[in-house]
Amino acid sequence: MNKKSINHTLSQMKCPVSLKDVDLFSPGAQEHWYEAYELLHKEAPVHIIPGEGTTSKHDAFIISKHEDISKIVKDPERFPPGTIQPLKKMAEVSEKERLKMNAMLVSMLTLRPNMELWRAHRQELTDPWVGPGAKRHKDMITKTVNDLIDNWINKDEVEFVSEFARPVPQIVLANVLGFPLDDISQLAKWGKAQVAPYVYGQGHMNVLNQEQAEEQFKLLDGFKEYVQDQVEDKRKNPKNDMITFLTEVTYKALGRKLTDLEINGVVYAMVIGGLETTQYAIEEQAQLLCEHEGLFLKLKDNRKLIRQFTEESMRMRSPTQGLSTRETSQDEVFQGVKVPKGSILHLRWASANVDPSEFECPMELRLDRKAVTRHLTFSAGPRVCPGAGISRLEQVIAWNCILGRCDDIRYAEGNTFMHQPGIMLGTLELKLNFSRSYK
Ligand code: HEM
Repeated sequence: MNKKSINHTLSQMKCPVSLKDVDLFSPGAQEHWYEAYELLHKEAPVHIIPGEGTTSKHDAFIISKHEDISKIVKDPERFPPGTIQPLKKMAEVSEKERLKMNAMLVSMLTLRPNMELWRAHRQELTDPWVGPGAKRHKDMITKTVNDLIDNWINKDEVEFVSEFARPVPQIVLANVLGFPLDDISQLAKWGKAQVAPYVYGQGHMNVLNQEQAEEQFKLLDGFKEYVQDQVEDKRKNPKNDMITFLTEVTYKALGRKLTDLEINGVVYAMVIGGLETTQYAIEEQAQLLCEHEGLFLKLKDNRKLIRQFTEESMRMRSPTQGLSTRETSQDEVFQGVKVPKGSILHLRWASANVDPSEFECPMELRLDRKAVTRHLTFSAGPRVCPGAGISRLEQVIAWNCILGRCDDIRYAEGNTFMHQPGIMLGTLELKLNFSRSYK
């Protein structure tokens, strides 16, 4: 973001003081989301967005309570995903036409059109690599993290986002998928283009305008072909990576191997889900460490607490704040508010995670909080984030290595603390000072 646009955003952002000020999607709103959640919890835990439901005659609703979101995500028949209509339309077009469409949606149509296959997709295709099977990457992640720390450990200051939090998931994901590391800068550009709707998109549905959509299309040029080349190469020269695995595996749920286009779609989903999310989890964790005196040393002395810290920080500062990914298939009532059939539900994970009915003193970081993983940062139920395993591992290893090699971290001069626009919580840069550990 350049200086001009920062000033523009600063002039637009306003801390909400009453419900009428609450608009989670207006420019600059990301600077005051947590104040807005407090108002929503007290005054409108189910908050209407008029005329923005499945048709202009229907509405959308922001769901902010933990109990409601938990119920919704655990019942996919009653609250189906919003992809059902686009997938129905896609089923009607020819296979040739589908080649031109978004590979992720095309692969959803054939590999996981219903919940049963959704589960199979996770268990058979992604779990072994980025879910519970992510443990196989422990050494690779540790090396990645230590190599990055080597680049700044002899300085006094680090720009933590560009020199650490961003490259960690980029390098890790490239290794997992089996992309050459020399391609990282190009892959990063494609990754950025893929998440463009979640950064620049308008409203709760993250819609790009015509110009932005064309720009995204241009920037994504070549990605599908690149993955296709990788797939062809791995079919000829198999390696120990996820793309090779996808070329060889028999998907038991369908009793067949995957097509190149399907593999392309699975890869697209990994890239769209696996970069900025983990980047911002680590970046916000650094901020929490700077803000809580003594916490760094406490974790340094007792590394078993790191996992509790990363979970508690993802609860308090959820990287993905909310998504409009469910609809109502029948009339519903939440918190006494009628939500008719055909409504779109904007699930505000971040707000559920600071819901005082679920978490005592929700804005306090408590390392002894019971069952902290009941937070909804990765959602829950059958569609829970498939990459939670690898993201958790990256975070824990990142902090284990930093705690081992530093004695503290502190905010450096010159931070603006401006957040990226869109649905993610994270600052665009974070300058830190640190003391190198010589022990
Ligand atoms: C802190 C890091 C992360 C956060 C906060 C996060 C959060 C989420 C959330 C909230 C969802 C929506 C689930 C739902 O609709 O119920 C999701 C879906 C998804 N995530 Fe993650 N995620 C993270 C890391 C990752 C990583 C590392 C990967 C891949 C390596 C990944 C891949 C995906 C994919 C592919 C989906 C879509 C599943 C579908 O098709 O519905 N995520 N994630």
